[in-house]
Amino acid sequence: MCGIVGYVGGQNAAPLLVEALGRLEHRGYDSAGVAVVGSQVRVTKRAGRVRDLAEVLPKRMSGRVGIGHTRWATHGPATDANAHPHTDESGAVAVVHNGIIDNAAALRARLVDQGVPLASDTDTEVFAHLVARSDADTLEGKVVDALDAVEGTYGLAVVHADFPDRVVVARNGSPLLVGVGDKEMFVASDLAALVRHTTTVAHLADGELATVTASGFTTFRRDLTRTQTTAREVDVDPSAYEHGLVDGRPRMYTEMLEQPASVERALRGRLDERFATAHLGGLEMDARELRAVRRVKILGCGSAYYVGQMGASLIEELARVPADAEPASEFRYRSPVIEPDTLYVAVSQSGETIDTLLAVEEIRRKGGRVIGLVNVVGSAIARACDGGIYLHAGPEIAVASTKALTTMFVGFALLALQLGRVRDLSVADGRRLVAGLQDLPAQIEQVLEGEERIAQAAKALAAAESLFFVGRVRGYPVAREGAQKFKEISYRHAEAYQMSELKHGPLALISPEVPTVAIVPDDELTDRNVAALHEIAARGGPLVVVTHPDVDLGELRAERIDVPRNERELDPLLLTVPLQLLAYHAALTLGHDVDKPRNLAKSVTVE
Ligand code: F6R
Repeated sequence: MCGIVGYVGGQNAAPLLVEALGRLEHRGYDSAGVAVVGSQVRVTKRAGRVRDLAEVLPKRMSGRVGIGHTRWATHGPATDANAHPHTDESGAVAVVHNGIIDNAAALRARLVDQGVPLASDTDTEVFAHLVARSDADTLEGKVVDALDAVEGTYGLAVVHADFPDRVVVARNGSPLLVGVGDKEMFVASDLAALVRHTTTVAHLADGELATVTASGFTTFRRDLTRTQTTAREVDVDPSAYEHGLVDGRPRMYTEMLEQPASVERALRGRLDERFATAHLGGLEMDARELRAVRRVKILGCGSAYYVGQMGASLIEELARVPADAEPASEFRYRSPVIEPDTLYVAVSQSGETIDTLLAVEEIRRKGGRVIGLVNVVGSAIARACDGGIYLHAGPEIAVASTKALTTMFVGFALLALQLGRVRDLSVADGRRLVAGLQDLPAQIEQVLEGEERIAQAAKALAAAESLFFVGRVRGYPVAREGAQKFKEISYRHAEAYQMSELKHGPLALISPEVPTVAIVPDDELTDRNVAALHEIAARGGPLVVVTHPDVDLGELRAERIDVPRNERELDPLLLTVPLQLLAYHAALTLGHDVDKPRNLAKSVTVE
């Protein structure tokens, strides 16, 4: 969703800002703009892509201080006028903003009463007018005055013609980073925009502001008292943030192929063969505290929620603690009872998803303990939790999540193992799981080697307008995630169902036009699953069956995709991987932009 960049230094700001905005494209957006401070503040903004903005950028838009933005429409449609930066009517102040100002309607009405002409439908514009109307003598003071009037979430950056040496930024709920260069400084809402220039960054905390000039930055609170936030070197490989095709392939493809390596990284240093357990130091919970956990509640959104369901099964099976997963977006609104002996687990790739973040804050406000399974280091969710597990998947650029999800699964397996081993899980079972986890990278590789066959199956599926993905118990969240991936990038209607529930309604939809992708692991339910497949086949429904080599499908007419067996608790991960390839090849067949599916954003930072 929305992205912010900023620059103060010796270079011409406009092209640099536009280039940095291009590095935020994967987040999803519908318009883009920049403001540059020269002798005055000049703004160029457009609905459309960053390249459209680059085309209309005036040649002589010179200035060494500036801010830029990619907008994902919330208040008002994607038009030139609603694109950021927003200015006051004199044009002295320019503002870019991520998040939502909740009391914008009241503030807009007040400005209109005062005769202030409003140029856009946005909540952000009011902020520019409020800054311009403050009589504080510093830009910092003006921004604080404006913040005092607004309620809501924000990451924002402000420039002002009267203070041409600086960008002032503020954070409350939307991430903001300051990057330190050599006599130049950067601002961004996402590390991806900075890494080409610097890997020395400071993460602002909620409630913090910063003044950024060419020589450095200072941080402070709303009462203008200084804070001590410092920049540190982050250990990242800038090339991992590159966008666009890699060797002619979309990022989603390279990210799927990275999974053996990312799963290996997620496991590294966390398995203890001697005691047949896992060590997750970041949990900050000793064995006594882990034993005191009576229930586990997992919260995430979208695919993270589906992997959360896989995680809940792992925890129940291995630790024998009741566990379930719930969409974070629903949890917060049903006034949940927060129990002191429940361990809450927030799961998120980006660490920015607003629904998950707000659920974490709600639980903590009510005294609950929350741990995070998060990929992005230092992200809002990681910081809001009491402890947690970093996923180490590496940067994920494609909107459709793949490698982050498989590392989430590994994170849950490690947590289940550690929780289990301080309770009733035997040494033998612990060893079995440790060995199984160690086998995963090579087995994922094996699944990926089956791409050709999966691509063939995908071509046939892409022709269908509507599909079912079915599974039972451990296989059901796999089916849900498979359907999610398929609909996200192929735009086909894909519905997940428990195989056991088909007879209770959806079987009526089965026909030669409606194929079913079935998840049939070799487990205690195989016979029942195979019987259900025959019922589908008898009604002419085409079948793709993701299964294990030993499973006997009899005379069934079906396209079969075999994945290697692991321990039954860990099988869901290996069953998930072919479904990623299935979705990917269906989307390619249909000619879609795999990395930028329509209507979707990589990080969902508004409710
Ligand atoms: C699916 C997908 C989304 C995300 C969801 C949560 O491919 O990417 O469903 O899983 O928006 O995002 P994070 O994990 O960043 O909280």
